[in-house]
Amino acid sequence: MFHRFLISLALALSSSIVACAQGDFIRPGEIWPDDRGQHIQAHGGGIIRLDSTYYWFGEDRSRDLDPQKRYVACYSSIDLTHWKFRNRVLQLADPENFGPRWILERPKVFYCQPTKKYVMYMHIDGPSPGRRSGYDLARVGLAVCDTVDGDYQYLRSFRPLGNQSRDLGQFIDDDGAAYLISEDRPNGFHIYRLAEDYLSIDRDTCLVPAHLEGGAIVHFGGLYYTIGSELTSWNPNPNKYATAARLEGPWSDFKDIAPPDTKTYGSQSTMLLKVVGTKHEAVLFLADIWKPQTQWDSRYLWMPLEIGAGKLQLPKPQPWSIDVETGEVTIKDSDRGGEK
Ligand code: GAL
Repeated sequence: MFHRFLISLALALSSSIVACAQGDFIRPGEIWPDDRGQHIQAHGGGIIRLDSTYYWFGEDRSRDLDPQKRYVACYSSIDLTHWKFRNRVLQLADPENFGPRWILERPKVFYCQPTKKYVMYMHIDGPSPGRRSGYDLARVGLAVCDTVDGDYQYLRSFRPLGNQSRDLGQFIDDDGAAYLISEDRPNGFHIYRLAEDYLSIDRDTCLVPAHLEGGAIVHFGGLYYTIGSELTSWNPNPNKYATAARLEGPWSDFKDIAPPDTKTYGSQSTMLLKVVGTKHEAVLFLADIWKPQTQWDSRYLWMPLEIGAGKLQLPKPQPWSIDVETGEVTIKDSDRGGEK
């Protein structure tokens, strides 16, 4: 009996060593297991950092879900590589009679220091009355919670300053100001500054007249960089970037972030995450590789960007690792079988 216990202990230890060694890299495009061994469900997601913990929120598209409801999941990590499932923070049945084909996508959570509330913005959509499907409503939804990973309470939906709003992105500037990036089909995309309690829009900081979605922004080396994807639904396209000295613009022309024939290596942007370490500032491109027929299996493409002096490039996806203390990134060089 004791012998059998020793054997299973040895097996458990050796498999956890293997899992750990494999798990120290972020592997673009592969299944990404959480602490339960289940593929992370945080599609179209966003990340906030509180103290030294990162929280990743996104669409939970697990297979076993109630088709009437829409779900947002939350995970936490201290190293951006190993993620612990925290909660299905939103499990929402149609809250405003949007209709059976209603849509909830791209949730983004902000922490509002003055009110100590966690505020979730989400893309709410669905067909207009009489239509069977479509993204006609073009609204923003709001939900709040007292804790980061508690059960969020849905509040309401609206059109920001009366404008259509589909894909949402989030940006928190170095001074803590919070912005919502919102695609507005007739006009381009807006960078909206949130009001002090984050429950409404304070002002339209900039309307960028480029028809891009999956919007993301980062402030790096004294410049703002924005990324967006073209409007091709679930199909990948060449994502583009522009720069500006101020969020208000003027923004430069948009250029490809990767060789256009790769279509952003099959992915679509959702966020830019800056990791300020003791030795290096890394900017991470966070994107989705959508599988529209099997959404639960949609993958993630996270890669450190080559960025600076107004230029930005997404390198060819390869396994990589990051030390969040120092900000140093190691990319596994698969061509040479080593690391660089
Ligand atoms: C994409 C968008 C996704 C989803 C999809 C539906 O362009 O980024 O979040 O809305 O279209 O077709």
